[in-house]
Amino acid sequence: MKVAVIEGDGVGHEVIPPAVNVLQAVGLEFEIVPVEVGYGKWERTGRAMDDNDLDVMRDCDCILLGAITTPSDPNYQSVLLHIRRELDLYANVRPFRSLNIPVDTPYVAKEPFDFIIVRENTEGLYGGKEEIGEDRATSIRTITRKCSERIARTASKLAKERKNRLTIVHKANVLKSCSFFREVCINVAQGEDVQYDEALVDAMAYNLILAPQKYDILVTTNLFGDILSDLSAALVGSLGLCPSANIGEKYALFEPVHGSAPDIAGRGIANPLAAILSAKMMLEWAEEHEKAKLVQQAVDHVLEKGIKTTDLGGHASTNDVSDALVGYIANLRK
Ligand code: NAD
Ligand code: IPM
Ligand code: MN
Repeated sequence: MKVAVIEGDGVGHEVIPPAVNVLQAVGLEFEIVPVEVGYGKWERTGRAMDDNDLDVMRDCDCILLGAITTPSDPNYQSVLLHIRRELDLYANVRPFRSLNIPVDTPYVAKEPFDFIIVRENTEGLYGGKEEIGEDRATSIRTITRKCSERIARTASKLAKERKNRLTIVHKANVLKSCSFFREVCINVAQGEDVQYDEALVDAMAYNLILAPQKYDILVTTNLFGDILSDLSAALVGSLGLCPSANIGEKYALFEPVHGSAPDIAGRGIANPLAAILSAKMMLEWAEEHEKAKLVQQAVDHVLEKGIKTTDLGGHASTNDVSDALVGYIANLRK
């Protein structure tokens, strides 16, 4: 298997090497194809991505990515959004599960929960149809039948593999594009015999905090899925614990939900588990289920042992966590 490895920017450089170490420790045979894209490259060369970088990615089986800094500057295009659109990685799958060990984080949910946000990943407000002028700026939100149908199908399939509970999240009371998304999702759910309900996104944010245990699969549009993802990461305890998969028909990209975390980058304290669990999602996608289970077992073990980075109230460094995981896996495989 050939994996394009993009460390990206900031903590991307710190969390991707541990994820690669873990893939090697579980015995995955893979060729690493390093690809440099992102803000660091832009500062160094004036371009965030070269013309052939996408071809290199297309030539690999999948991509493992750390995080890419995107400045809030209208002249700068998000490289990550560009990659997602170009490779048609239409389904952003983000699982959120409560930890079953005590952690010292600002928020701990009262009851265990386990839900997945299935976020449309190629259109909506992140579709790139925008303009900015002297006195006004416009971002066009297009929602198509094709993209809504395929994301609803991905979500319905996941729902059927789990508790058969799909929640369609929208703002159809005020947005026509959401009415359209809602209707397409309902048709797909009915056609697939999936039990569904629906929620307005504002109420959804409220209810996710109050009762995350009520939810199984959430399907939603691009921006709403982005925002609800970080909210959900706070329910889990840290962005440093939350992985994601960006899946298309041909290509797939695995990355933590978090960004380049400039506030902690370079200090060796970033939690590598989100990146490592993203590598686990890659193993599942590659149907390496035993290896994926081994990764999860190792993650559970180091957390139970209290080997935790500062975001979880611990004192371990990024490398302490990585070494503990690799050591545990090596012992098990002896
Ligand atoms: P962020 O996700 O980088 O950080 C938010 C908070 O979470 C920070 O306090 C940070 O320290 C903490 N955090 C993030 N990852 C962590 C980890 N592994 N361990 C411990 N704590 C962690 O969000 P931001 O600060 O708003 O964004 C920084 C940059 O990242 C921006 O340029 C943004 O565009 C970019 N970004 C990129 C991606 C991506 O490439 N996938 C995702 C989100 C944001
Ligand atoms: C994420 C990030 C990206 C997004 C940004 C950096 C383009 O926030 O992966 O959640 O909005 O999708
Ligand atoms: Mn985000």
